[in-house]
Amino acid sequence: MAQEVRGVIAGGKDQQVRVETIVVPDPGPGEAVVQIQACGVCHTDLHYKQGGIGDDFPFLLGHEAAGVVEAVGEGVTDVAPGDFVVLNWRAVCGRCRACLRGRPWYCFDTHNAGQRMTLTDGTELSPALGIGAFAEKTLVAAGQCTKVDPAVSPRVAGLLGCGVMAGIGAAINTGNVGRGDTVAVIGCGGVGDAAVMGSRLAGAARIIAVDIDDRKLETARGMGATHMVNSRETDPVEAVRELTGGFGADVVIEAVGRPETYAQAFYARDLAGTVVLVGVPTPEMKLELPLLDVFGRGGSLKSSWYGDCLPSRDFPMLIDLHLQGRLDLDAFVTETIGLADVEKAFARMHQGDVLRSVVVL
Ligand SMILES: NC(=O)c1ccc[n+]([C@@H]2O[C@H](COP(=O)([O-])OP(=O)(O)OC[C@H]3O[C@@H](n4cnc5c(N)ncnc54)[C@H](O)[C@@H]3O)[C@@H](O)[C@H]2O)c1
Ligand SMILES: [Zn+2]
Ligand SMILES: [Zn+2]
Repeated sequence: MAQEVRGVIAGGKDQQVRVETIVVPDPGPGEAVVQIQACGVCHTDLHYKQGGIGDDFPFLLGHEAAGVVEAVGEGVTDVAPGDFVVLNWRAVCGRCRACLRGRPWYCFDTHNAGQRMTLTDGTELSPALGIGAFAEKTLVAAGQCTKVDPAVSPRVAGLLGCGVMAGIGAAINTGNVGRGDTVAVIGCGGVGDAAVMGSRLAGAARIIAVDIDDRKLETARGMGATHMVNSRETDPVEAVRELTGGFGADVVIEAVGRPETYAQAFYARDLAGTVVLVGVPTPEMKLELPLLDVFGRGGSLKSSWYGDCLPSRDFPMLIDLHLQGRLDLDAFVTETIGLADVEKAFARMHQGDVLRSVVVL
């Protein structure tokens, strides 16, 4: 029996989001229905609403979620009703070239649910990142459910489902930050701050936070940044060089997703250093850099989808570190809100007032 629940829909480009009744089918083979307990508001949800990620409206927004498995379809053995799970957008296939080469975090064929959730008039919904969790219940592929220790509170566990994992992974997995490295993080929202925290966890010697908002720099300090640079007032490239003995940082993480901040990251890194782009650009953005500088400065220019994470490996590990008091995930939660408050949360995100608003159900 399909169920009717409430969910947050983006109906068209730049329209206000609204709470509507959605229809969630029973799980088919390989699928699961999850009762959502908490879901963070990520900048990517705002990108969806703005039409920055395709125009498959209506979108069912929300993708940073934790909840309890309610029902599973045929052939599902890894999770069962009652399991506490964090939802992921990387359910790896195990069979594509990337998976077979032992690099499943590059999987080309990740799983989502086969059936579609709909509005009550039958209109098919596009769930954000194949999840759609600003809803009382959602339908996903069973592989999108990662079991973690239920001792953790859902509101922080869910954050690992996207932004916090993307940031920590950008530092640890993609950037390979190691003991003694110097790191700069440009853009200290939820993702950038997680990169700061990941760099600290990895033993970075210096962590330079760069943002245009002093409030964000203050929060970054609390997450482990050793130096703060307001790039509205100070040239960030010069500042990072000064703070690193004139060289530039070993790893610069760009967590804004704009050509000008990417260029800052490119020049703020040491020769042969690494740039990690974790911020998501929009389709019209173009990057222009002297090719001679790309050649001459060497090193590596990487991008980080989802922090190159493997959910089954990384989620339980990070939750365990959190429960041991070694990773303060609570620091990301600025406020908890209801489903009807998502539009307001976008406005607060836009004004820089929040790190994460978390919808609690
Ligand atoms: N790669 C991934 O897998 C992944 C996952 C989640 C989110 N993201 C992306 O990461 C980016 C950040 O997401 P978020 O949730 O932290 O957003 P956010 O809005 O909370 O944070 C963005 C931060 O960048 C700062 N900023 C804006 N313009 C700046 C500039 N010119 N220079 C320096 N700082 C600037 C803002 O003050 C803010 O602190 C977004 O583009 C989002 O789509 C990527
Ligand atoms: Zn694969
Ligand atoms: Zn996200």
